[in-house]
Amino acid sequence: MAESIFITKDAPKAQKYEELIPQIKAVIEPETDMVANLANVAAMLKEAFDFFWVGFYIYKEEELVLGPFQGPLACTRIALDKGVCGAAATEKRTLVVPDVDRFPGHIACSSASKSEVVIPLVINGETKMVLDVDSDLLDDFDEIDAQELEKVMALIGKLHYKD
Ligand code: SME
Repeated sequence: MAESIFITKDAPKAQKYEELIPQIKAVIEPETDMVANLANVAAMLKEAFDFFWVGFYIYKEEELVLGPFQGPLACTRIALDKGVCGAAATEKRTLVVPDVDRFPGHIACSSASKSEVVIPLVINGETKMVLDVDSDLLDDFDEIDAQELEKVMALIGKLHYKD
């Protein structure tokens, strides 16, 4: 396995995702353990984009429980009616939040977090987990992030949730 990822420095965001996603696929496809794969996905996204916080919350026992992540200490459990993560998990759709202070019920794990994108992995109508990415800049995420990170979640879904 490669020791680090290759990403063209200073390339536009879309190009970086285009370069990164096949590398994510190559790393996770041979591995059957989901936690190991989520850990490497978080690490690769952090390395490629230097996100402030990037990680997974896994749906269990009717709430979202912290999974592998990169970044500062985070809340361990999120109720489904709380925060951007809870909203994305319940509404079963990606949420791009340009200013977290304007999102009703946003959970501030860190006061440095200013904008956020949350992508749920929905299998047979059920949310299995969410990918949460936080930035310390306002309005740092757009449709490109939403679409490309959905592709990453689709890879994880295909590999770890057979229907
Ligand atoms: N801000 C998130 C909680 C998770 S942390 O940011 C890592 C939310 O509102 O769901």
